[in-house]
Amino acid sequence: MNHQPHKDNSSLPKKVVYFDNTATSFPKPDSVVEALTNYVTNIGANPGRSGHSLAIKAGEIVFNARRELATMFGVKNPMKVVFGFNATDALNTAIKGFLRKGDHVITTAMEHNSTIRPLKQLEEDGLITLSIAEADKYGKVKPEDIEKLITDKTTLIVVNHVSNVNGAVQEIESIGRICHSHNLTLLVDGAQSAGYLPVNLKEANIDIYAFTGHKGLYGTQGTGGLIFNDEFDYKKIKPFRAGGTGSRSADIVQPDFLPDMFESGTLNTGGIAGLLEGIRFVKNEGVENILKHEQQLASRFVEKAIKEISGFKHFGYSSENVGIVSFQIDGLSVSEIAGELSEKYGIMCRHGLHCAPLAHRSLGSFPEGTVRFGFGVFNSMEEVEFAIEVLVKIQKENI
Ligand SMILES: Cc1ncc(COP(=O)(O)O)c(C=O)c1O
Repeated sequence: MNHQPHKDNSSLPKKVVYFDNTATSFPKPDSVVEALTNYVTNIGANPGRSGHSLAIKAGEIVFNARRELATMFGVKNPMKVVFGFNATDALNTAIKGFLRKGDHVITTAMEHNSTIRPLKQLEEDGLITLSIAEADKYGKVKPEDIEKLITDKTTLIVVNHVSNVNGAVQEIESIGRICHSHNLTLLVDGAQSAGYLPVNLKEANIDIYAFTGHKGLYGTQGTGGLIFNDEFDYKKIKPFRAGGTGSRSADIVQPDFLPDMFESGTLNTGGIAGLLEGIRFVKNEGVENILKHEQQLASRFVEKAIKEISGFKHFGYSSENVGIVSFQIDGLSVSEIAGELSEKYGIMCRHGLHCAPLAHRSLGSFPEGTVRFGFGVFNSMEEVEFAIEVLVKIQKENI
């Protein structure tokens, strides 16, 4: 896709190739930057608190973002969208608020530390027991392997929809079907699927979906939250954060209605103003078109790399994955590769374990980790060709 969102960005070096969209998308569409600036410059007020016209404007922005998210994810009631600050915050809210002493939880080897660590904390505190379904060398988990782990104490299944290591997509619909046939709740980590794949909570049998605003939805950092399926009883989750909501000020107990129950404290309203435009941008471009574009970049990169870079090894790349490629080059450490790409050639990417150590054990890249290229809507084929040229050079110079 041929976007030039920042025509004059003099703070950046002349040529930057940004392949770290999996960590956070960059650049942001102009409309996102404009919405943020407009909020900070012209609105500035706290939504849902005061009754003056600026506060009402701020409230409208937040409501519109809720409505856009609800529509995007197939939820009828916009109040089922609750804002937090990122996917980690949302996952902690859902995991720690849902689970009770004695519960058994099933998760997968493809989880990010944002899921594994809160679960491990609860396990270490003796509150829950935990089973982890294995993944194969492509990063795929068999739904039936999850089913085999169900016990009479199981209440929750937590699954990362799309791997942040190699873009592998889990069979969420089937996992959801299994979950519901056993009367269990399915919590999905959508950090790498929101904006990257079409997702409909009802059709995919997802009860609770944790999203982040700063990746595939093209908002800025500090935005994210939970989306509840219309059928899900949100009161099963006890909010771990309590405080001012602007509503029912006479009550000294936490409100039990949405979205206030989970939204104590002032929101990141400027961030949400940007996120609203990010979502509109993604809808306008079309999630499927963005996905296809990023998959084409990934596919070209892998095809050429296999042919032209000796010792190139990818980890579980498939044309069906979202546009993320994890790789190593024999004889070079991943930190050397990423360091040279950035310092000499202006190519930004991440190396190492990407906060998902178990995933690397499944993919066969533990403990070294990988160099990760995470493609975004603003990347081009020319950038992919340039990266190939550069990697060939790095490989030749260092061997
Ligand atoms: C799969 C996955 N889950 C959770 C997270 C955490 O997201 P955030 O940084 O928005 O909390 C990430 C971030 O990289 C991720 O890739």
